[in-house]
Amino acid sequence: MLIYICLTSIFLAIYFYVNYHRLKHWKRKGVATLEPQFFFGNAKSVILQREHVGTALKNVYKHCRQRQLPFFGYYMFTTPILIVCDLDLVRKIMVTDFDHFKDRIFYRNDKEPLSLHLVSIDGARWKENRTKFAPLFGSLNVKLLYDRVSKCVDKYIAQLHEVAQPIELEGFVSKITLDVIACCLFENSSEFMEKNREEIVQYAEKFWKLSPSESFVRLMVIVFPDVILGTKIKTMSDKKKNLFLSKVAAILQEGGHDGYNFVRILQAESHDLPLENIAANWWIFFVVGYRTVSSLISFCLYELAMNQSYQMRVVEECKEINSNAIGQMRFLDQCLKVKLIYCTLPETLRKYPASTMIRRQCTKEYRVVGTSLTLNRGDNVYISTLGIHSDPNLYPDPEKFLPERFAEGHSRHPCAYIPFGAGPRSCMGQRFAFMEAKIVVAKILKDFHISVNDITDSEPLPMDPKAFELQTANGIWMNFQKKSSIR
Ligand code: HEM
Repeated sequence: MLIYICLTSIFLAIYFYVNYHRLKHWKRKGVATLEPQFFFGNAKSVILQREHVGTALKNVYKHCRQRQLPFFGYYMFTTPILIVCDLDLVRKIMVTDFDHFKDRIFYRNDKEPLSLHLVSIDGARWKENRTKFAPLFGSLNVKLLYDRVSKCVDKYIAQLHEVAQPIELEGFVSKITLDVIACCLFENSSEFMEKNREEIVQYAEKFWKLSPSESFVRLMVIVFPDVILGTKIKTMSDKKKNLFLSKVAAILQEGGHDGYNFVRILQAESHDLPLENIAANWWIFFVVGYRTVSSLISFCLYELAMNQSYQMRVVEECKEINSNAIGQMRFLDQCLKVKLIYCTLPETLRKYPASTMIRRQCTKEYRVVGTSLTLNRGDNVYISTLGIHSDPNLYPDPEKFLPERFAEGHSRHPCAYIPFGAGPRSCMGQRFAFMEAKIVVAKILKDFHISVNDITDSEPLPMDPKAFELQTANGIWMNFQKKSSIR
């Protein structure tokens, strides 16, 4: 009986605390919000994995814009999150007032060195890492990696000539991008990949394809960061950690004899970084670098397959590229001049931003000018990339794929297009991603005519509500018809 009374009292205490304190946070601050539900807040469909978090936040953005508000309150479970919709305020948070919003919440654990990388670390440690690693992705270095990337892609184009049709596009493209990033990060990558391929692919895929319990832990990191980040929950086995550490140690010792790669660049730039520090960033470049670019290339090819007239125009423009240049660095320069392929990639990232939202955490008290709202240290701020990119006031007919939106002469607010984020914490790999995507798309379209196979439920592509990033639910099945076989 006593236990029963105690349990009921604890439950009632939690219920009243959550319902009348936590879930009244935005009301107290005078911020508009939808009525939250006990335990779920506003995120029931996301927590029950019925709706993709990107789509849910896009709907909040839409609602906020319809009411012409600069921001809107949202609760993920019981955690208050400010969804910022006004583009001037977005710019202040990401760029001009960055000093107040330097951090983002991402899983990290001081006892797990590989989790301490550029995406997750904060403060002075982040700044030092950013300064040391940014030159890797400078324009000259990315150009110098071109040959390495191009050779790696050629292997897969040759395979495409041999394999049975149709092909599941996302699976095929992610093999290319995984190999490309390994080629750039590791010395003798083919040897490394041959020996460890299965293990590495599994590890890299596990980072993105989460079981329901892992998705739950990742959500909890966002919702209760202090609790989760203070625990010893490990996301990486010791075996995986050791494999990566030993490989990075070996490549640093070997000293970059195998052509131009990231190790050579890093060694030229800086010698004083601890091994675990380099390994952690190698790990994040590896998993982020393969997956985001694979998503960009897959959605781009899918749209070109669905929009045959664009495909023909891209092919025509690619013909202007001197065929002798393909396989040489000159190809990249010529690719840059091909306008449609250049516009096709930004339009793909508008419609399918690999990362559907940008997260920031308030690091210093911030008064939002022109309103009565003050954000305190630790408050969460989200920006819905998918919401902004689908706003009909910014992009008329947003569901349509129209590369000409990015042709010269179209101007828009600097934060109306943010697939790579903005400001000091924006993506470091943007140049590398575009270089790789241009090579893959141009090489495929040079040899093949592409169309979507009937197996794929094509319009609109169903997205996986369980995935953390934008990913199709059933893959994209594609026909690659050799140009030589078309009369
Ligand atoms: C199409 C491809 C890519 C997309 C769409 C993309 C998108 C993003 C986004 C949205 C962010 C967060 C920006 C912010 O918070 O303002 C980010 C950060 C980052 N990205 Fe990318 N990314 C791509 C490719 C890459 C590649 C190829 C690499 C490296 C090999 C990379 C490395 C990073 C790193 C290290 C950060 C964290 C930067 C920091 O916090 O200082 N990304 N990316």
